[in-house]
Amino acid sequence: MITGNYPNLRLRRNRKQPWIRRLVQENTLSPNDFILPIFLIDGKNKKEKVKSMPDVYRYSINRLNQIIDKALKLKVPMVALFPKTNEKLKNEIGTEALNENNLVCKAIVEIKKRYKNQIGIMCDVALDPYTSHGHDGLIRSNQIINDETIEVLVNQSLLQAEMGCDVLAPSDMMDGRIRKIRNALDKNNFKDVQLLSYAAKYASSFYGPFRDAVGSNKFLKGDKKTYQMDFRNTDESLREIALDIKEGADMVMVKPGLPYLDIIKGIKEKFRIPVFAYQVSGEYSLIAHAIKSKILKEDVIFESLMAFKRAGANAIVSYYADRLDKILK
Ligand code: PBG
Repeated sequence: MITGNYPNLRLRRNRKQPWIRRLVQENTLSPNDFILPIFLIDGKNKKEKVKSMPDVYRYSINRLNQIIDKALKLKVPMVALFPKTNEKLKNEIGTEALNENNLVCKAIVEIKKRYKNQIGIMCDVALDPYTSHGHDGLIRSNQIINDETIEVLVNQSLLQAEMGCDVLAPSDMMDGRIRKIRNALDKNNFKDVQLLSYAAKYASSFYGPFRDAVGSNKFLKGDKKTYQMDFRNTDESLREIALDIKEGADMVMVKPGLPYLDIIKGIKEKFRIPVFAYQVSGEYSLIAHAIKSKILKEDVIFESLMAFKRAGANAIVSYYADRLDKILK
């Protein structure tokens, strides 16, 4: 790298005015970089606050147009759907995941009917919103059983694809599920349905508010450390990504985001594929609460999002994506 010496070299010259700062800027953010997560709730005319996440709501299906219209107006390319399943519908094996009238299915149908292909729809593939124990898979003798879980995930994927989901995002961290899901999709004429693998998903305490939002927190027994990754590890994330690319992932996700920028950067540099990152609920809540209590100023949001681009993320899943008009201005 060529540098120089002070006093001939003064790096401050290129910062002296806004116009030159604009010319030399290395990264930018636009609405194209965002995916908006939306929480679903059953019932009619509901827009319900998520307590641990300021300014985030759960929407009933008939109120969805309110938030989707906003996303469209802001030119956000895709939304991600997450259901708060009625407790009465939860059981040990997450049967509701395969109900074609479940919240996610109804939402996909509704959105596709109203908006056609103006906006992409992404859905999680995992059982945690549907199980009475809050885990992402099936349990036998206190173990999350891998291969049997995949069979259910394949069916969940096929169902969501049939409803019109554009991007399936397995977030369960079972081994080998990407290949099984890809094969099943191809066999059933869903060749164009994309797979966004949550390939590097860490067992994180930053998911706390999300689990409140989907109502799985109070059910969750134990932790997810036997399937989600150990946050002490870096190399392991590269192995996870390599495997999922081979199995047919079109894009990969790193999660959480801000505390894992090193992981995003490492994966981008090594694989040169679309890398998405999730600014998860706990990160959101930290920032949102700090702003609410006037400890931080609002422009910290933009700074936190730009960090993802610097690290190499192509897109960011963020609960701020419905306010980009204010954040990116
Ligand atoms: C479910 C899932 C989780 C998140 C997205 N999909 C939680 C978990 O794995 O426990 C977390 C998102 C967030 O915290 O914003 N598999």
